Amino acid sequence: MVRAVQVTRDDDDVSTGFVDVPETELGEGDVLVDVAFSSLNYKDALALRGDRGVARVSPLIPGIDLVGTVAESDDARWRPGDEVVLTGAGLGETRNGGYARRARVSGELLIRVPAALGMRRAAAIGTAGFTAGQSVLALDDRGIPDGDVLVTGATGGVGSVAVMLLSAGGRTVAAATGDPAGADYLRGLGASTIIDRTELQQSGRPLQSARWAGAVDVVGGSTLATLLAQTRHGGAVAACGLVEDPQLHTTVMPFILRGVALLGINSVEADAAERARVWDLLERRIDVDRLDALTTTIPLNDVVERAADILTGRNRGRFVVEVGD
Ligand SMILES: NC(=O)c1ccc[n+]([C@@H]2O[C@H](COP(=O)([O-])OP(=O)(O)OC[C@H]3O[C@@H](n4cnc5c(N)ncnc54)[C@H](OP(=O)(O)O)[C@@H]3O)[C@@H](O)[C@H]2O)c1
Repeated sequence: MVRAVQVTRDDDDVSTGFVDVPETELGEGDVLVDVAFSSLNYKDALALRGDRGVARVSPLIPGIDLVGTVAESDDARWRPGDEVVLTGAGLGETRNGGYARRARVSGELLIRVPAALGMRRAAAIGTAGFTAGQSVLALDDRGIPDGDVLVTGATGGVGSVAVMLLSAGGRTVAAATGDPAGADYLRGLGASTIIDRTELQQSGRPLQSARWAGAVDVVGGSTLATLLAQTRHGGAVAACGLVEDPQLHTTVMPFILRGVALLGINSVEADAAERARVWDLLERRIDVDRLDALTTTIPLNDVVERAADILTGRNRGRFVVEVGD
């Protein structure tokens, strides 16, 4: 039996709690992993309260990330004892995820934990850090002009890592935040300018003064519309989140008059080649001291309580969840 957090939905009734799941019911896959760490992301918070958009099957073990040691493998690429990380790929959404002592997964999308990081830091990166890395790579691949890059939701998981990665890559970073006490934290991650997020949450002209060479946006809604209107000629916005609003009301003007690109980011479906590129970038650019400074570690027992804070926007940085002994 495997100790796990499980969410069960029955019509409108949702229950979340600890259960013992038979190992045979963990799910499909050719690799059995002893989970050491998971993490707590915005999406996990939604799954833990039974949100149907994330927790798409019932019962479900949430946890969109897992990091651990291979216990058994029918995949020739992996051997018992290998340290592996898996983010997204349906974990904690359409299949059982990382909030369990053991997980059965496909070997196809596993990544070997970079030795320079180790398992705990790989979990600190998790889906949020992976998404930040994917967003930065998308901007690099697009080839944005020189100049300032803006990160929204900057004190959150994706935002914090994005600030760190962009600054480590030599960019001047502006960080938009609603956290009045977040300025020192963000400067510590490498941000040069701090912006009050309400400045971006106004409806304005379709083309505004061009300020940003690029942006990483976790917010969506009126903020994303403003970013597009303020992006310089040839710049791009990597859009990965919707904490303000999934709706986007804008015009085509930034696209047709400034050649601005809107780059969609989907970390869940990233293929093996993209995962390898992103983890390579993360390994090269992550400053482990900064990563440690933005990470809070919590036991699996506390995950439900901390998830409530995430949904009210009261969190900062990343949460590693200790799952193993
Ligand atoms: N596309 C993908 O594959 C992918 C992957 C991971 C995450 N995401 C999405 O990215 C978003 C952020 O995820 P996360 O894990 O970084 O979440 P998080 O840690 O909760 O961070 C979100 C941050 O957004 C800001 N914020 C919260 N409510 C807001 C509001 N109403 N208006 C404007 N800003 C607000 C807050 O930062 P400040 O206090 O600094 O403003 C908050 O810390 C979520 O929508 C998540 O679903 C998408």
